[in-house]
Amino acid sequence: MLAQFSFMPDQAATISEKVDLLYFYISAITGGVGILISIALVYFCAKYRRRSAEDETPRILGSHRLELIWTITPLVIFLTFFGWGVVVYQIGLQPPADAPEVFVVGKQWMWKIQHPTGQREINELHLPVGRPVKITLISEDVIHSFGIPAFRDKIDVLPGRFVSTWYKPTKVGRYFLFCDQLCGVGHSQMVGSIVVMRTDDYDRWIAGEIKDIDQPPSPTSGPTDGSLAWEGRKLFLKLQCITCHGGTATAHAPRLEGIWGQEVPIRNGRPVRVDEGYIRESILKPRAKIHEGWEPIMPTFQGQVSEEDIIKLIAFIKSLRVGDTPFRNEDFPAPVGAPTQPTESKQ
Ligand code: CUA
Repeated sequence: MLAQFSFMPDQAATISEKVDLLYFYISAITGGVGILISIALVYFCAKYRRRSAEDETPRILGSHRLELIWTITPLVIFLTFFGWGVVVYQIGLQPPADAPEVFVVGKQWMWKIQHPTGQREINELHLPVGRPVKITLISEDVIHSFGIPAFRDKIDVLPGRFVSTWYKPTKVGRYFLFCDQLCGVGHSQMVGSIVVMRTDDYDRWIAGEIKDIDQPPSPTSGPTDGSLAWEGRKLFLKLQCITCHGGTATAHAPRLEGIWGQEVPIRNGRPVRVDEGYIRESILKPRAKIHEGWEPIMPTFQGQVSEEDIIKLIAFIKSLRVGDTPFRNEDFPAPVGAPTQPTESKQ
């Protein structure tokens, strides 16, 4: 992290460059004027110093011309800050009409995020690169501030009132998310990350197949909360598939982790590649193609699962990596990213 230290954070959204340009302009003008004044001060001290005891300062009365020049000139220069600032602020205020809306709820001390497509996240926000997104925020308790330095954006999050902002990320990467408003003892822990993904990765994230930009994803955390694969995971537990298709060596049926796209040997037949069709057939007609080495003990689920259910189960199996198989008694997975330690109970 230290090796990446730089003068400014990454410019990762369309507004970042606009904000930086304005920032450098203001810094250059104010810095330049400050330096000029300092030089003039030293120079005049030397030039107009008192040279002898008789050296007296002449009495000079006011000059309207000079007064006007040194009032109006800085006024015009400094008003450009305002004018330019309004333009950038306006851009930051108005999201494009087609931007999907993500909801963010701030509470002591975490960010809860709800995507329009159903996904929920805590302290993480996944976004596609190059697509605008509108963020609407509200607080459950006190004033927080949703700040993303790489996007040059922060917005105060208030209780009882929706506020909104928008971004169009321009650079794939993982960026800091901070709470920028002192909001209690846990304020400094109210941090998270913004994960900007390539659009194809993002679509896979939405489908619950991957969790991060750095592939391969870390296993064991399960599919994205609220995704199709996550729905499939719930069904997988509800239908008791887990009883036989467990992740352990004592399972009564083939392990499903990493099976997607693989060729499996078939009893009395040619190997088949695991795809949508094979999974659907195996759920509805388990005896049609028996995986070599396993007994045909699976009951049919014909009539028990709808086509939609099968799609969810397929998405789940597709997402399964080594170590991802849930435990049998785990009936409702916690949202991905949820704190693993129990939060303090309120008395
Ligand atoms: Cu929330 Cu500081």
